[in-house]
Amino acid sequence: MKKILLLNASPKNSGATQEILKLLSQAAPHGVKTELLCFGDWNIGYCRGCKACYQTRECVVKDDMAFLVEKLEEADVLVIAAPSYWADVPGIFKSFIDRCTPYSNTNPDPQHPALKAGKRCYGIALRTGTRPEECEHILATIEHWCGHMGIEMAEGIFFCQVEGKEEIAPHKALLQKKAEEWFSPCR
Ligand SMILES: Cc1cc2nc3c(=O)[nH]c(=O)nc-3n(C[C@H](O)[C@H](O)[C@H](O)COP(=O)(O)O)c2cc1C
Repeated sequence: MKKILLLNASPKNSGATQEILKLLSQAAPHGVKTELLCFGDWNIGYCRGCKACYQTRECVVKDDMAFLVEKLEEADVLVIAAPSYWADVPGIFKSFIDRCTPYSNTNPDPQHPALKAGKRCYGIALRTGTRPEECEHILATIEHWCGHMGIEMAEGIFFCQVEGKEEIAPHKALLQKKAEEWFSPCR
């Protein structure tokens, strides 16, 4: 059965980002399995910049990253949703990205561990302000991560003028449509 992993790339598991992912998960078609995780529920330490992973193929920091990378590996389709924090991704998401260095194609070790090929990712950005550029920057960060992890970035969508989860209800129909398109078991 096709596995869909929905990642709330923020520290908060009860806000607008979580609500978007819950609606997508609830609208998933039959024949796929969804799992929703929030980075804030996991211990993700920051990268120390030591580059030991270039030699040893693993990170010196021992926390929940190994579990999260296992989840990435199990998934066929990823959805990563991130709110804007100071016009950028939340710090916990940046830590996650940095900690993917052992698995990245920037690791000079040709035998470095890597995710299986063939995964696709959908990005979602949201913010309170009105200018779309801030959301586009977040989607570009997700796409950049995908590029180095061997994941196809299939589409990105964004929502401006969202302060909290109450503002997500008007977008329910769009999210249902996206769930049908993105998670179709035939795709
Ligand atoms: C620390 C912090 C920084 C933020 N910075 C911005 C910002 O630069 N631009 C913006 O439009 N919204 C900003 N916001 C608002 C969030 O992007 C917005 O409220 C979003 O809906 C929060 O999602 P959540 O409910 O899942 O936490 C910020 C929120 C927080 C907590």
